[in-house]
Amino acid sequence: MVHQAPTKAGADPRDRTADRELRRRAAAVIPGGMYGHQSAGPLPPEYPQFMRDGRGARVWDADGNCYVDLMCSYGPVVLGHQHPKVEAAARAQAELADCQNGPGPVMVDLAELLVATVRHADWAMLAKNGTDATTMCCTIARAQTGRRRILAARGAYHGAAPWCTPRPAGVTEADRANLGYYEFNELDSVRSAAAEAGDDLAGVLASPFKHDAGYDQELVDPAFARGLRELCDATGAALILDDVRCGFRLALGSSWEPVGVDPDLSAWSKAIANGHPLAAVLGSDRFGDGLRRRGDPPGRLHPSAAQLVRLRGHDRGRHRPGARRDRPGVRRRPRAAWPVTYPDDGTSLRRGRDVKYHW
Ligand SMILES: Cc1ncc(COP(=O)(O)O)c(C=O)c1O
Repeated sequence: MVHQAPTKAGADPRDRTADRELRRRAAAVIPGGMYGHQSAGPLPPEYPQFMRDGRGARVWDADGNCYVDLMCSYGPVVLGHQHPKVEAAARAQAELADCQNGPGPVMVDLAELLVATVRHADWAMLAKNGTDATTMCCTIARAQTGRRRILAARGAYHGAAPWCTPRPAGVTEADRANLGYYEFNELDSVRSAAAEAGDDLAGVLASPFKHDAGYDQELVDPAFARGLRELCDATGAALILDDVRCGFRLALGSSWEPVGVDPDLSAWSKAIANGHPLAAVLGSDRFGDGLRRRGDPPGRLHPSAAQLVRLRGHDRGRHRPGARRDRPGVRRRPRAAWPVTYPDDGTSLRRGRDVKYHW
């Protein structure tokens, strides 16, 4: 395995023959040659467009050049590529049955584990991607409250559907008619957006911290998070946490667990199944009725098996007072952890303790 330091544009000694050929073919059959965030178009020319495989912390491009993957595939691959236990569980489930007429036992196992792990969760629903999960949260909030308006932070990303995509092409005013906007970490702006919504306020959607693409990141001010909680309690609106990007990466019991604020509904994806297409909506009993209006479980079962292994294998570390596993009827899960070490190069991806917030 040869690692070469990046060089100035135009002086890259790495072979790019396969990548060039794939780009040429893609340009004929894929809009723009590639689209969305995985397009290498805006990147410097020495970045490859096409990746061939990955193992642990390393990935190889279509020409066989090797890289350390500091991006974890834009977030989901937190245990490393092709983690043997995760892949074995997904494969075993896929061989048993993957697309069935009814959900498998693994769905119940996973829902129990999610409810036992996340403090605010009394129930869990599964879906296939983050946009599904955030959209379901909004629908559940509206169904439960009988109201329409959802407030979201200006510039925040909550998915690729017309109601939330940052790309305006193809989006109509009607798609966003029932949204209001506020500035992240500015409680006054939430209050005035809520006042404008009046008795039509169904929910307030927030990211765990400000992670808008292209801008400096900003941790949540705990007073802001508490203020959102108070506003939702006072108005009956749902506090919705979009944990799609941060979930199970900042803290296991939800990214606002260290802040001490529990949402009513939360959306999860990315890291929960180490790259397999799985998402979850978790919620409190107060928003359980809205479920009658919503929900298509993911058709395939193997991502649930992958998530089960990923979560069971995680060092859940701390005891969460109030988590559902403390309550009667929900089995408490044994804690288990394995050191995520790949024998070929000794790279350890084992996480340390939960991220510490500083304020
Ligand atoms: C915070 C957040 N919410 C929602 C989504 C949408 O997730 P998906 O791309 O899986 O639909 C993303 C994706 O990047 C995200 O970062």
